[in-house]
Amino acid sequence: MTQRRILVTAALPYANGHIHIGHLVEYIQTDIWVRFQKLRGNRCVFVCADDTHGTAIMIRARQEGRSEEALIADMRAAHVRDFAGFDIDFDNYGSTNSETNRDLCHRLWAELRKGDYVTEKSVTQLFDPKAGTFLADRFVKGTCPKCGAADQYGDNCDKCGSTYSPADLINPTSTLSGATPELRSANHLFINIEKLHSFLEEWTQSGEHLQSEVANYLKGHFLGEPLRDWDVSRPAPYFGFEIPDSPGNYWYVWFDAPIGYMASTMEWCQKNGENFDDWWRDEASNLESSPSSEIHHFIGKDITYFHTLFWPAMLKASGCKLPMKVHIHGFLTVGGEKMSKSKGTFVQAASYLKHLDPAYLRYYYASKLGSRLDDLDLSLDEFVDKTNKQLVGGVVNIAARTAKFVGGQTLCETYPADGGLFLFAAAAGEAIADAYERCDYQTVIRTCNELCDRANTYLDEKAPWKLAKQPDRAEEVRQICSVGLNLFRQIIVYLAPVLPRLAQQAGELLNVPITCWEDSNTPLVGTPVAPFQHMLKRVELKQVEAMIEDSKIPDAAVTIPTTANAAAAPVATPVQCETTSCAATPAAGTQPTDGPEALEKEPLVGEMCSIDDFTKVDLRVARVLSASHVEGADKLVQLTLSLGGDVRRNVFAGIKSAYTPEQLVGRLVIMVANLAPRKMRFGMSEGMVCAAGGGGKEIFLLAPDCGAVPGQRVH
Ligand code: MSP
Ligand code: ZN
Repeated sequence: MTQRRILVTAALPYANGHIHIGHLVEYIQTDIWVRFQKLRGNRCVFVCADDTHGTAIMIRARQEGRSEEALIADMRAAHVRDFAGFDIDFDNYGSTNSETNRDLCHRLWAELRKGDYVTEKSVTQLFDPKAGTFLADRFVKGTCPKCGAADQYGDNCDKCGSTYSPADLINPTSTLSGATPELRSANHLFINIEKLHSFLEEWTQSGEHLQSEVANYLKGHFLGEPLRDWDVSRPAPYFGFEIPDSPGNYWYVWFDAPIGYMASTMEWCQKNGENFDDWWRDEASNLESSPSSEIHHFIGKDITYFHTLFWPAMLKASGCKLPMKVHIHGFLTVGGEKMSKSKGTFVQAASYLKHLDPAYLRYYYASKLGSRLDDLDLSLDEFVDKTNKQLVGGVVNIAARTAKFVGGQTLCETYPADGGLFLFAAAAGEAIADAYERCDYQTVIRTCNELCDRANTYLDEKAPWKLAKQPDRAEEVRQICSVGLNLFRQIIVYLAPVLPRLAQQAGELLNVPITCWEDSNTPLVGTPVAPFQHMLKRVELKQVEAMIEDSKIPDAAVTIPTTANAAAAPVATPVQCETTSCAATPAAGTQPTDGPEALEKEPLVGEMCSIDDFTKVDLRVARVLSASHVEGADKLVQLTLSLGGDVRRNVFAGIKSAYTPEQLVGRLVIMVANLAPRKMRFGMSEGMVCAAGGGGKEIFLLAPDCGAVPGQRVH
């Protein structure tokens, strides 16, 4: 078989949030596909990068009182760590904020200009005079112009469902600063996508570049009418690359993000002595011959439009190679619902890894992923059940029930008669490989489970554990175990893309590493078996529950909108970020009914203080940079607080009964900054965070309203 050259990308995660189990659907799906291609002997390169530009990052950096570069550097380290924790193995992990990416943006832009694809038009948008920035729709709130509901976002009303322009909102306010936005015009640069209409029609509808439902969707929703010009510039201030021939204007994040795929490839080429053009140069001129390399993008359905219309258009217009396929997956729900921070189902990669083995999730997602775009649901009971029954009780069990009887010995010199089991499983190999190729991992897992059942039934019948008690039947035991271990190895070859660690362990157990797909065709004979070591534990529901409990963030602590992520919207549509505040305001129109109990429990203290007394206390806004449990202390959490810039304080706070460290990192708190430092058993405490409530679960940290930044004094 000829070796294919395949370049694979997964979507570039935004640098303004941590990796969570929703993202992992994609990164695990892609990593499995890449590992499969490598196991098949294809040359496969997997590149990714952080997506670092845009308003959301700029605002978050401002809120944290630090530079965008500092923010994206921290987030990059966290992303790289989380991916490694799940065995997601990129060949290169870049950043869209790199000089390589800037150069490539310049190159593509020059081509777009040359081809006369760029036009300039005036755009009128709301502008926040206090924050000094134009406002994307989600950063504006006000009263719905249709039904009068208060507190509605700039683009549509939650109450009556109508959509409108943010300029139509009554009493609009900026969620960034609280200021009243004003309308301002600015010139934006647009790419004329319509010029490529017939190309896009052909590319999307032919050659299996897209799953059929995606091709049909595009035809029905977009390609039936002229394509709108795509707005690719944003006026300053904007965190991104300035457009060389349009000073003061920056490329919109979605312009430079996919170019990040190229930049990451370029970095990999430079490190490996490869030629960039071999991967990205347009080969359309010799359509006859099969392509010498293939590009495969993996993305979620929310970013379909960018990858199936804008990006192919940009590639075509700039003479670059088009993807062979854009593989699109659905969204993760947990227990049938959207992931929720308050319910604890918005689980970050790092929180998962604290409680559970990454193999469980890789296996579970694989068992749920098919070739289509259906959403997939993580049911916690099913997760536990599949892990224990199929993965541990099925796959790993084959090794556990055989290896211990032959550990320290060798496998039989000739492969024993097994009633055709090995040949049967070898014959299943091509169908399994086809399923991997189509991203139909459900079928892979189902077929492997059938093979496991056969192997386990064989072992049930032969019961080597019974024979092992009879010394004169040792050879028989060795034969049965040689069969069992070879069947195990064969299944592990098939599952190696999903379970790389288990494949590694199987290689160590049998002293022959698994290196290629063909390892499933020939049984091992005469090779030594290492003493059996435990491979993968069963999972307990209580571990899963502890993870969920750890991930719970009260609704009040989750509000300000930030990040950009929207299907067709030319302007960034933010989703919630992990930051803080804007808490206890009752929903519009409801009457607060606060009882007297709290005050009765802790009556007002009588003694008056002067304003001078009060101002002695230097209260400041601070950001929790890190938080951790304190060994040996049942009430304390250790916090590193930032007062902006490089000013940090170490504080031990007695809030462990109400907050987990994960809930604290990133949020703003109010601290007493001039409290005399106090030496505690665990170290020096340099201040105090302010909270309301009587203790236990009833501790409520104070937080400023949106817009406050670390270092600000509280008066
Ligand atoms: N930065 C853009 C992609 C730019 S690609 C040139 C982006 N980033 S993201 O961090 O929001 O998402 C990264 C990928 O994870 C996307 O493909 C997205 O669809 C996927 N997912 C994010 N949340 C998801 C779920 N809850 N479920 C499944 N996939 C999810 O979009
Ligand atoms: Zn309304």
